[in-house]
Amino acid sequence: MMTLSEMAVDVLTCADGREKAARSLAHGKAWFDMRKTGDLPDIGTASPPDFPARPDKPELLSPRDVPRRRPGTDAGRIALLHAVAHIELNAVDLHWDIIARFADVKMPGGYYDDWVKAATEESNHFNMVSDCLERLGSHYGALPAHAGMWRAAEDTAEDFMGRLAVVPMVLEARGLDVTPGMIEIFRKAKDDESVAALEVIYAEEVGHVAYGSKWFHFLCGRHELDPKEQFHSLVRKYFHGLLRPPFNEEKRAEAGLPPDFYWPLTEDLPQE
Ligand SMILES: [Fe+2]
Ligand SMILES: [Fe+2]
Repeated sequence: MMTLSEMAVDVLTCADGREKAARSLAHGKAWFDMRKTGDLPDIGTASPPDFPARPDKPELLSPRDVPRRRPGTDAGRIALLHAVAHIELNAVDLHWDIIARFADVKMPGGYYDDWVKAATEESNHFNMVSDCLERLGSHYGALPAHAGMWRAAEDTAEDFMGRLAVVPMVLEARGLDVTPGMIEIFRKAKDDESVAALEVIYAEEVGHVAYGSKWFHFLCGRHELDPKEQFHSLVRKYFHGLLRPPFNEEKRAEAGLPPDFYWPLTEDLPQE
């Protein structure tokens, strides 16, 4: 029987996207089957790789070298879905990585349940978006993709609370801001399958941000820290740049992110 950390490393070291998603789903099922017995299964320890394994394609380019296409065209919508597939594949790895990398910190069972569930949802998101690409005659790997998606993970590899602040509470929360506009693009193009896939993603991503906020607040409580002050200082330390409005305040609130967490991070600190 594999420990949860070994399952995480098994996903992280798998290069192929569809195979990574399949392993992630299988391990997720195994985890929840074990949880039915009532005891917390062995979390174990394992050394996650510095970078998750990735397929030969897509070619990874610096964001400024990834060609932009107009969303009003078929090619533009394919490029958009390709970028989403790339984000989802990274998200699969990010959720397994937080489990393995910080396995030495003792956490309640529900913490592992949340990230395993999030990882299985990201695996479904990757599969759904890959299906949409294939239906449109493309596939994940057909276009270049952003390098540097793993940067937030690298920057916070030694800081558990920093990881929660930057990945679910900043990056995934940003997804809540931009997904409605994306859904509109596919609705206008009458691409019902892509609309349906993006609507599932939109609904489930609220949960991922909420897990981040929940466990961030839990750790602040454990260490008697002020959550808002901690959040501001960790985001300023590890996230490169300022947060950019407009924000989806309604969905952020649903996910446990109040406005005074993110609005102050749209501005530089006043100079001394
Ligand atoms: Fe996702
Ligand atoms: Fe997510």
